[in-house]
Amino acid sequence: MIIENKRVLITGAAIGGIGEAIMKKLTLQNNRVLVTSLNMSSDRFPDIKSISADCTRENEIHKLENWVKSEVGSIDVLINAIGGSLASKKPLEIDSNFFNEVISVNLTSAVLLTQMATKLMKTGSIVHIVSTSAFEASLNKMSYGIAKAGLVYYIRSMAQVLAPNIRINGVSPTYVFTERHNRELKQKAVKTGVSLEKLISDRIVKQLLREPLQPENLNEMIEFAATTPLMTGRILDASLGRIY
Ligand SMILES: NC(=O)c1ccc[n+]([C@@H]2O[C@H](COP(=O)([O-])OP(=O)(O)OC[C@H]3O[C@@H](n4cnc5c(N)ncnc54)[C@H](OP(=O)(O)O)[C@@H]3O)[C@@H](O)[C@H]2O)c1
Repeated sequence: MIIENKRVLITGAAIGGIGEAIMKKLTLQNNRVLVTSLNMSSDRFPDIKSISADCTRENEIHKLENWVKSEVGSIDVLINAIGGSLASKKPLEIDSNFFNEVISVNLTSAVLLTQMATKLMKTGSIVHIVSTSAFEASLNKMSYGIAKAGLVYYIRSMAQVLAPNIRINGVSPTYVFTERHNRELKQKAVKTGVSLEKLISDRIVKQLLREPLQPENLNEMIEFAATTPLMTGRILDASLGRIY
């Protein structure tokens, strides 16, 4: 099941990330694709309509909503790929500023974008990118895990609010080898002297299926989550059989 001939808003389209991968595919399938990110510059995707917006803030969401209306009127699909763990912190060293920021980026943005989408679509579909961190204790990324677990709760709850006209689902990947992650791994290899191969294998060691997950590998599942009429309020597991 693919998304075609639709008006699609993708949020969080970092270069070499999950949002960019799905954006590239959807533009080839005759969709009208709009993208937004925190610091979107006009040369990031010159052929795609885009705007910068801080999606943790109501006034910026309002600006985004007006822009989408002026560009395409309404949308059929929202794919939200905003998020990130921001940093590693020991659980007893998390301060309120850091905690609030992680919650804001990963959860508040999803809440505000979902509310916005309901104003931009009469019927349609919303897909949020969750994370295996929602289900697995990763102690130094605890704030991120809490935010993503909150997102799971939100998706499950909002399905009841939005049915039957709008479906809302999540896709939950394990570690994805995005451009940003590849860059960070190379830097870590140089800094620590641990080989890149070892760093990569450490990240996939809990996966029963030992392929490094690439951003574009998620496209099919994201499209399925967006298009199947059989599902709402569910989280699709893209963990390659990760054991937790
Ligand atoms: N990569 C992984 O291993 C992995 C695994 C599981 C889940 N995920 C989730 O998948 C999603 C995409 O991750 P990724 O690794 O592809 O992306 P990424 O490289 O971490 O980029 C995150 C995106 O979020 C945007 N963003 C951050 N704060 C924002 C804000 N306040 N308002 C608007 N946009 C904001 C960034 O904008 P700019 O580009 O303008 O900075 C960027 O486009 C995230 O939700 C992440 O938590 C990632």
